Amino acid sequence: MNIEPKLVDKAEIYAHRGANDRFNESTVTAYEIAARDEVDALELDLRMTEDDELIVMHDASIDRTTNGSGQVSDYTFEELMEFETIEVFQQEEKREAIPALEEVFQTFGKNEHYYIETRLVNGKTEMEKPLIELLKAYGLLDKQYVSFQSFSEESLEKLQDLVPSIPLTLLFKKGEFNLQKAKKVAYPAIGIEANDVSLQVVNELHQQGKEVHVYFTDLATQKQEQKRVQQYDVDGYFTDFIGYTKKLLEE
Ligand code: G3P
Ligand code: CA
Repeated sequence: MNIEPKLVDKAEIYAHRGANDRFNESTVTAYEIAARDEVDALELDLRMTEDDELIVMHDASIDRTTNGSGQVSDYTFEELMEFETIEVFQQEEKREAIPALEEVFQTFGKNEHYYIETRLVNGKTEMEKPLIELLKAYGLLDKQYVSFQSFSEESLEKLQDLVPSIPLTLLFKKGEFNLQKAKKVAYPAIGIEANDVSLQVVNELHQQGKEVHVYFTDLATQKQEQKRVQQYDVDGYFTDFIGYTKKLLEE
């Protein structure tokens, strides 16, 4: 990932939960498909099990993406392995276990860049230290291999204290973007939902030397929204449609 202030030649592509348009989101297979597409980074959301294992999953609950139900935090890792992920995008019958973060690192090693989203666990910064330890164990604690993103400033502050050399992105929730705040924070990149992105926002953040990474919350409008914000020269996309994004960037 390029975090220097720049004129944007070509936006970067971050595979949002892997190639989730072709396989169960946040699974090793979804990330393998994305890696074959040669994206700039694999985007991963983390959750913590009851016995403190970091797993790759977006939701706090396993209801939407697996054949089980309940909160991740109420299961041990071994118990979670009883369940299988399901396809939520295409509604097809595909099954695969929930991956531990470690399994993703074992699978891709230094061949990929990991753009990891952290969050608070029960209101506390509990996942940051074990995450750093795991990255260290796999030789991945280097900005060449990893960047962090979070909606939680507390989590980002903790990460900055622990590993100041790794780039951080402050995410803003849809409808809660605050340009004045975004311009002032110390982080090199800002993550904004597409609806909140305008030419003024992009220009003012670029003037502050900050990158603009765009995410989407509506699959139905994602492609048209991406086409709109592409005109503003944003720096990266958390995309659910890698193929479409690649084509758009080549136009
Ligand atoms: O991490 C960028 C984007 O993924 C934020 O939204 O809810 O999909 O994690 P969410
Ligand atoms: Ca995310």
